[in-house]
Amino acid sequence: MTALAACLLAAVGGNSSLVTYPSSVAGFNLNIPLDPAAVTYPTTADQVSSIVKCAVQHDKKVQAHGGGHSYGNHGYGGVDGELVVDVQNFQQFSVDSSTGIATVGAGYHLGDVTTLLYDAGELAFAHGSCPSVGVGGHATVGGVGPTSRLYGTALDHIESVQIVLANGSIITASESSHPDVFFAVQGAGAGFGIVTEFKFRTETPPTLGVQYQYTFAGTNITAHATALKEWQAFVAQDDIPRELSSMVIMLPTAVSISGTYFGSEADFDALDFPGAFTAPFTETITIYTDWLSMVDHWADQAATLETPSYFYAKALDVHADNLLTDDVIDSIFEYTSTTESGANSWYMSIQLAAGAINDIASDATAFPHRDVLYWFTSFASANGTVPESTFEFLDGINEVVETGMPGVDFSAYAGYVDYQLENAQQSYWKGNLPRLETIKALVDPQDVFHNPQSVRPSS
Ligand SMILES: Cc1cc2nc3c(=O)[nH]c(=O)nc-3n(C[C@H](O)[C@H](O)[C@H](O)COP(=O)(O)OP(=O)(O)OC[C@H]3O[C@@H](n4cnc5c(N)ncnc54)[C@H](O)[C@@H]3O)c2cc1C
Ligand SMILES: *[C@@H]1O[C@H](CO)[C@@H](O)[C@H](O)[C@H]1NC(C)=O
Ligand SMILES: *[C@@H]1O[C@H](CO)[C@@H](O)[C@H](O)[C@H]1NC(C)=O
Ligand SMILES: *[C@@H]1O[C@H](CO)[C@@H](O)[C@H](O)[C@H]1NC(C)=O
Repeated sequence: MTALAACLLAAVGGNSSLVTYPSSVAGFNLNIPLDPAAVTYPTTADQVSSIVKCAVQHDKKVQAHGGGHSYGNHGYGGVDGELVVDVQNFQQFSVDSSTGIATVGAGYHLGDVTTLLYDAGELAFAHGSCPSVGVGGHATVGGVGPTSRLYGTALDHIESVQIVLANGSIITASESSHPDVFFAVQGAGAGFGIVTEFKFRTETPPTLGVQYQYTFAGTNITAHATALKEWQAFVAQDDIPRELSSMVIMLPTAVSISGTYFGSEADFDALDFPGAFTAPFTETITIYTDWLSMVDHWADQAATLETPSYFYAKALDVHADNLLTDDVIDSIFEYTSTTESGANSWYMSIQLAAGAINDIASDATAFPHRDVLYWFTSFASANGTVPESTFEFLDGINEVVETGMPGVDFSAYAGYVDYQLENAQQSYWKGNLPRLETIKALVDPQDVFHNPQSVRPSS
């Protein structure tokens, strides 16, 4: 047994089933197979602390593994040779009924959290809609979902975390205790430690929802471009209510606009959203009268995206004061309809942001994207190793936007990892990066918690 293996085995109290040595792990992105130093499954924060100390002693980088949904397989380190701390055994859950604050172990997936909170008093907090995403990676990077315009991101709900730092200490970070670590955990957590437990503020979720979908079928790119321009003009209006969530999915053969309006059908009709569109479309409306049915609907919608595949993805922030120009929108559809993707399938996707997300200052948490109107992402998957032409195809979409609107900041949300992005840290954390680098130098100067795009210590 190597010295590292002996250290790890002792760290988990001699239980050999809690330390594994897979030679290759398949994360969510099959295009990035990895060979970690070890994958561990600690059951207590003390064990996590001992594992981190072993890593430091044996000069290994460390990453927590939550739900394993990083587009760059960062939960397995994102590069070979890292020591992985899978937090799946952290399944503690309780709610303080006087404050509504929920204690949630870092091992849960979002789907579990939805059910547990609802069963504990019809509670919820805002987060993404894909049930298999891990709360660990989600709430430490951002966490945007259908109710985010009403209630903010998942990380905006964190009251405190229990986190294991690079020196092995187990601390509680909050506004009042280790506030610098707390700042970093709210958007850049992967580079700062391993969260074992969250305390989340909760809310009473909406019970009434109008689910709408407008589908512009066919391959007429003029109709597709027009739908996007009209959608953008509609959601950019000042008085669009926070009750409206909205997404645009752009496939080669159709554009679909969908979302949930949290309120009555009469109030939704009063918005006259369909009236925004001139090209022909088909409309589907479903009325929901309870929260879990809405969540189930979103999960069904996300189901096709939940399977691991060989893929690449890119993201752009679009701001209300720099909306995509008509020329850029035309160019995007012109480009995607005339360029060989090399992919088995691809799509572009838009998620409306703003609302409560933007009530918080961009330097209040590590997550800086507080002036974004919507996220624009593109995604392409291949049948096997992603070919160069597919990387180029997606890079080309962003280039169309960036060259069409020179000088505009299109930096991107770290939750949608672009694993080939240069200067990713600048893009992900923008004006907060210098402060994060300073905090990193204080709490993790050896860069123990590391993936290819995590915050590095300032020198
Ligand atoms: C199908 C799909 C749908 C998605 N939908 C949304 C969405 O609607 N909204 C949205 O905002 N995002 C969405 N995402 C992005 C998702 O939120 C991020 O990929 C998130 O980081 C995944 O967390 P994880 O724990 O599942 O992944 P992992 O790969 O396990 O972890 C991702 C990163 O977080 C770190 N991490 C994990 N657990 C901890 C912990 N306990 N302490 C410290 N660091 C930790 C890991 O080290 C790694 O660097 C989606 C992703 C996928 C694949
Ligand atoms: C394509 O869509 C545009 C916008 O709706 C419409 O004006 C045009 O007639 C359509 N062209 C074809 C060939 O259907
Ligand atoms: C990928 O595989 C599917 C199903 O086998 C096939 O239909 C498709 O043509 C393949 N695509 C590419 C780009 O090879
Ligand atoms: C570990 O680091 C934290 C944060 O910098 C610090 O508060 C704590 O005192 C350190 N613990 C030890 C044992 O050095």
